[in-house]
Amino acid sequence: MSLLKRLGGGSPQPSEPVATASTMAAVAPPPQAPAVAPGEPRGLPISTPIDDAAQPTDQQRMLELSLWCVDRIQASLGNQNELKRSPETEKLLQERFARVYQQAGVSLSSEQVKQLFTMVCDELMGFGPIQQLLNDDAISEVMVNGYDKIYIESKGKLQLTPVRFANDEHVLKVIDRIIRPLGRRIDRKWPMVDARLPDGSRVNAIIPPCAIDGSTITIRKFSKNKLKVDDLVRFGSMTPEMAEFLRACVVSRLNIVVSGGTGSGKTTLLNVLSNFIPEDERIVTIEDSAELQLAQDHVVRLEAKPAEIDGTGRVQIRDLVINSLRMRPERVVIGECRGGETLDMLQAMNTGHDGSLTTLHANTPRDALARMETMSMMAGMDLPLKVIREQIASAIDIIVQQTRLEDGQRKVSFITEVQGMEGDTVVLQDIFKLDIMGKTPEGKIQCDLKPTGVRPRFTPRLESHGFKLPPSIFGAQIPGQKKGW
Ligand SMILES: Nc1ncnc2c1ncn2[C@@H]1O[C@H](COP(=O)(O)OP(=O)(O)OP(=O)(O)O)[C@@H](O)[C@H]1O
Ligand SMILES: [Mg+2]
Repeated sequence: MSLLKRLGGGSPQPSEPVATASTMAAVAPPPQAPAVAPGEPRGLPISTPIDDAAQPTDQQRMLELSLWCVDRIQASLGNQNELKRSPETEKLLQERFARVYQQAGVSLSSEQVKQLFTMVCDELMGFGPIQQLLNDDAISEVMVNGYDKIYIESKGKLQLTPVRFANDEHVLKVIDRIIRPLGRRIDRKWPMVDARLPDGSRVNAIIPPCAIDGSTITIRKFSKNKLKVDDLVRFGSMTPEMAEFLRACVVSRLNIVVSGGTGSGKTTLLNVLSNFIPEDERIVTIEDSAELQLAQDHVVRLEAKPAEIDGTGRVQIRDLVINSLRMRPERVVIGECRGGETLDMLQAMNTGHDGSLTTLHANTPRDALARMETMSMMAGMDLPLKVIREQIASAIDIIVQQTRLEDGQRKVSFITEVQGMEGDTVVLQDIFKLDIMGKTPEGKIQCDLKPTGVRPRFTPRLESHGFKLPPSIFGAQIPGQKKGW
């Protein structure tokens, strides 16, 4: 059963035999164990319903007890901090745990003992209380807002969980465990860090004094099975016709910008689009934190590098974009444009490196243009706005807008052609568009993805690459024929 279901399931557990702890004297008084009266329904900490997440529950006491056990086990291991998860280590811990548990002199149900052992293992070999959230495939994001407020994203929706750390120091310990193997550090002087978990999940941590309400961790979980184009079609994020159109655009070497808000699915869509690139083309990918998973063989992956401890040696996306142009790329895929690299990318697109792909942060295709202007100015070249606009208009062929709707659905809300300049204005033409029709009583947004009826001006380019897309794909009504959808 997924953790989320367990988190949500408030039904009491059937009563089980109580595993009575030994009557041996405890070495030190352990934290009070969660009360278990024989015959009484015993809810595990994890079965706390989400609505009750703010209530202090048995969970707090279980946490304290697990940390008490961890202290003693660690002392018995000679304070060996780095334990690698392996069957041998687990066996060793099981043995030590049994001893320490006896010393604790507490009375827990067998389920609770199991739970306690898992918590101890997560503490000693994993990332503490959030390990269970990281293990759950139904959870896509874990957000620790201080020690006692942990949110998750599941099915596109944010929820508060009953999971807690013991205190801020406990959160710091987990941050340290994440970044230490990477040779990174975090302290009051430089209180933020980007890192990755061993499985590739993206982590950001920021601590006081900059994080005012306590140490904060944000983890975008790395999905082992990256979403494929068929998944996006199956979820209704795009129609099969939109997918076919986008494939034609990528193969025909159009320059494409994926635009969207935070967590809207930009990188996922960029990954899908990049996988349309033909196998025989040399691809260079450039990312802040490598997230793309390309199926092609001929791929060179570049990743930006943070500064060393002395503040030197930082390699930014911009440096990598400039460098990539000397690598004979046939395609440059930039994970996200955030600054001056935008101008370098536009110039590359305008000077023969067509077929490039990137993402940026904007809420509509029109906003994406404004954002590209601003970011191009960050390059510090002092170019007049009109010149930048012309660069954008001639470099970018389409903007694909990705949106996360308020009910958690993620959709391609616009596929928009950049047609050129008219006077001082960049002309945009929507080719596909999301129509919001309303909301069901359950709060699900009802919407429809439709072509606008306009054929893109670059259709001849698609045709020269062998894509003869039927007019119906663009919503043209052919007399006597039914529409594509
Ligand atoms: N079309 C989709 N349908 C359902 N889930 C999706 C879809 N696209 C992306 N996701 C999921 O949404 C989460 C965020 O996706 P992604 O990392 O692509 O977003 P992003 O816009 O790049 O985020 P950020 O702004 O943080 O870089 C991931 O867990 C991903 O699996
Ligand atoms: Mg992203």
